[in-house]
Amino acid sequence: MMYVLCSMYNACMLYPCPSIKNNSGKIKKKEGIFRHRNLSTIMPAQNLFKEVEIPQQKNYEEIVFPKVITPNPDGVGFDESPSLSLLTDAIKENKPWLVDSLLYQSGALVFRGFPVTSASDFNNVVEAFGFEELPYVGGAAPRTNVVGRVFTANESPPDQKIPFHHEMAQVPEYPAKLFFFCEVEPGTGGETPIVLSHIVYERMKEKHPEFVEKLEEHGLIYIRVLGEEDDPSSPIGRGWKSTFLTKDKSVAEERAAKLGMKLEWTDDGVKTTMGPIPAIKFDKTRERKIWFNSMVAAYTGWEDKRNDPVKAVTFGDGAPLPAHIIYDCLRILDEESVAIPWQKGDVLLIDNLAVLHSRRPFNPPRRILASLCK
Ligand SMILES: [Fe+2]
Repeated sequence: MMYVLCSMYNACMLYPCPSIKNNSGKIKKKEGIFRHRNLSTIMPAQNLFKEVEIPQQKNYEEIVFPKVITPNPDGVGFDESPSLSLLTDAIKENKPWLVDSLLYQSGALVFRGFPVTSASDFNNVVEAFGFEELPYVGGAAPRTNVVGRVFTANESPPDQKIPFHHEMAQVPEYPAKLFFFCEVEPGTGGETPIVLSHIVYERMKEKHPEFVEKLEEHGLIYIRVLGEEDDPSSPIGRGWKSTFLTKDKSVAEERAAKLGMKLEWTDDGVKTTMGPIPAIKFDKTRERKIWFNSMVAAYTGWEDKRNDPVKAVTFGDGAPLPAHIIYDCLRILDEESVAIPWQKGDVLLIDNLAVLHSRRPFNPPRRILASLCK
């Protein structure tokens, strides 16, 4: 059920998430070796990691976004025989530094150049971090479990862009952290642009203060019309039967109600209404407001023969949203985003509260795997 809502109101798991390409993301070495802060806990893998710069990174005062970590050529053990177990041991030993320090500061970490070659390797990397897995209630359908806690990101048509979103932003229980892994590099394109959510909030607040004030006061309502069966020609074409995993309308209503969604039946489908729900959240750990909504995604992307995207999202009081502000927000998202071409073996760790992600169109092949954590 969890993925169901995600698929409806969030670009991601129904669509694919991640991205990356090869070639151009050339690594530049940065001075210094990053060490665990507590030197008394030095372990063999302690200086295995090295922070590097890549051309796509952005700098916001204290924040380097995202942080990029590669094997340290001077690190114990990695110079001669890099192995997955060395990496997973190093993750376990350095978790406070990686998560509480780097991820907390930056919002996203890229691990590049480590010997992560398969879905199973990726699963071991995720396990090494020790985060609790986010359960998928009834979550079978379009997402395929590859191994362990690793899933495919469901592929929407390659030529389509997936708009910026926080993963499962409209579901009561959304992941706190996301992992992506590049198993097969995209032919061309297919990056997974990321953007710091509080930066989007700050820029919107500065440029459109009245709009943001109204958004904070009223929240947003999301409306989507679903057919009875799936419509493969539409990127948002899941019918209500597969969305709610039932053919029984009363069961569908019960399941929708649990998600806070109202249903109105039509001749050939159902109109779903979600909200009002808050569009701005407060990140308690970092004490700042974040742009936690699917406003732009819905307004610019929820289009098919049943849905007019302009009607897909409104203020919480039902008032229409001003188009020019939506498109200005889209511009800000693009301006502040970082799109790193995927390289095979890349692992991207995202703090889902701090960072929005999207996907650029691509030419196949491309296989990005995902894992969601509490
Ligand atoms: Fe996503």
